[in-house]
Amino acid sequence: MDQLTIIQPDDFHVHLRDGAYLTRTVIDTVKRFARAIVMPNLNLPVTTVALAGAYRQRIQAYLPEGCAFEPLMTLYLTDNTPVDEIRRLKGSGYVHAVKYYPAGATTNSDAGVSAIEKVYDVIEALSELHVPLLIHGEVSDEKVDLFDREAVFIDQILEPLLQRYPGLKTVFEHITTREAVEYVREGSHNLAATITPHHLLFNRNALFENGIRPHHYCRPILKAEHHREALVEAATGDCPRFFLGTDSAPHARRLKETACGCAGIYSAHNALEFYAEAFEDAGKLPQLEQFASRNGAGFYGLPVNQFRCTLVRNGEFIPAALDFGEDTVIPLRAGESCRWRLATNE
Ligand code: DOR
Ligand code: ZN
Repeated sequence: MDQLTIIQPDDFHVHLRDGAYLTRTVIDTVKRFARAIVMPNLNLPVTTVALAGAYRQRIQAYLPEGCAFEPLMTLYLTDNTPVDEIRRLKGSGYVHAVKYYPAGATTNSDAGVSAIEKVYDVIEALSELHVPLLIHGEVSDEKVDLFDREAVFIDQILEPLLQRYPGLKTVFEHITTREAVEYVREGSHNLAATITPHHLLFNRNALFENGIRPHHYCRPILKAEHHREALVEAATGDCPRFFLGTDSAPHARRLKETACGCAGIYSAHNALEFYAEAFEDAGKLPQLEQFASRNGAGFYGLPVNQFRCTLVRNGEFIPAALDFGEDTVIPLRAGESCRWRLATNE
């Protein structure tokens, strides 16, 4: 197969950032995706519907003329989020979910939730109003081995939470382990998961190839090969509760190539093409449309997109660096060629 036409996909987890970064992030994302769930972990977190509305307008200001891309906004859950904010969210029409970061688990998560019990009232409202809770599923306990933090999160936080609120619509974001795959697969119709292109393509060896590779550092961190295989099986398999979420998350080169580098991988420049590569390697290219264009929309209760896009073999050269205003970002697979290329959007 040298060409693949699929229904236009959505990205159910992306960091567009703000300010000058929007020039590049928005263009890369809207070229491939009709809608995207936009993460709220800005330097000033998006904690209210009013802030989400203003952020949405800033994103829309970067849309090319005539582009119908829809940013699906999210709120950042804190210990102090009022239940009323969830009611306002429901009435807004443009905020689609709430993001739960355990405080300290990842980039800009310091204002996140310090103990799950503190937000039970909000979670109850989400459950009643059928608003999805998007979960960064890692404990932030420094005594727990970094590579075990997702599996420990399932036992300590997620399972008790879903026992308490079985009606809660939950997305376990950017899963990275076999344990998470199995947990979601065996879960109810209210539980889904996103999977990134980098967790499908790489295992943890990519962090240490001939030296330390800061541009492969993200959270949750890349895992061992048997976990990657489980993720590929889930993404390319029949369960409709696994879907596309890139977690594309740009950081300036100077903040990655340093003594204490930031977590985050920028993949939006070729995201769909990377997924195509992972699906092809698994011999499952025909399953890409289900994962990228149908499953997420189904879970979020959104219509499937109207238009199609075409990928062709023989990809482009990926630049060694990208300009982000005054910063430089090193994209995923920098300086290499990409096997697939986006040909058209119809
Ligand atoms: O690697 C990551 N980067 N993981 C996250 O959860 C956040 C993201 C970011 O915002 O940079
Ligand atoms: Zn993320």
